[in-house]
Amino acid sequence: MFSIFKTKHYLKDILPKNYIDIHNHLLPGIDDGARTVEETTALIADMKTLNIHKSIATPHTYSSKWNNTSEIIKAAYETAIEDNANRSFIKKYASEYMLDASLMEKIKNERLLCIDDHFLLIEFPLFSNPFNLYEMLFELKIRDYKIIIAHPERYLYLHDSIEKYEKLKDFGVYFQLNLLSLTGYYGRNIYKNSLQLLEKNMYDFTGSDIHSNAEINQFETTPLQIRTKSKLDQLLLNNSIFLK
Ligand SMILES: [Fe+2]
Repeated sequence: MFSIFKTKHYLKDILPKNYIDIHNHLLPGIDDGARTVEETTALIADMKTLNIHKSIATPHTYSSKWNNTSEIIKAAYETAIEDNANRSFIKKYASEYMLDASLMEKIKNERLLCIDDHFLLIEFPLFSNPFNLYEMLFELKIRDYKIIIAHPERYLYLHDSIEKYEKLKDFGVYFQLNLLSLTGYYGRNIYKNSLQLLEKNMYDFTGSDIHSNAEINQFETTPLQIRTKSKLDQLLLNNSIFLK
């Protein structure tokens, strides 16, 4: 079929040297990612072939689905790093926290697992706008968290106006692009939205959100749907602050 994208760029070919992935589901048995430590080890071997140098593991903490605690996540991390190759690949563990009432309770009692230096990975519900979104973000902010919103392009209720994204950025949050959004992996609307946010320089960081082989295959076999990759190349460099 005729394509407007003259040069085919695959994610596996464009990650910069020493790229660190800050969003994935590598830890075994505690969410919808790797089910066993053998799967963790296999995913890591595949991620290395995609030129991913290191990772920060971010299993879900989502009270109605994945009731993880810091202790559960730490135990899964320790199981994963019994293998030496895994140990050198996973720099540390954090979590992808669902922004909801139970998270608001949790932050009163404990410090959440940060990616690094107060950076906290937060996801929103995919289909319904939290009615007290800004109150919850405020509660995080006053506790000195730097909020990274995971895959903002995936929240369909934000798609109807760019002002909703601008308001979030004005509030001082960071945006993390799921790289696979630019291949169409999550559907046409999410692809178009990710392209718009990329063109407007609204992303701060990137992540693979790898759960399984399905995402690995997409990195290898489905080209990015972008005309030029200069903005993406620039954006990909930003994750390096988490290497230190
Ligand atoms: Fe995720």
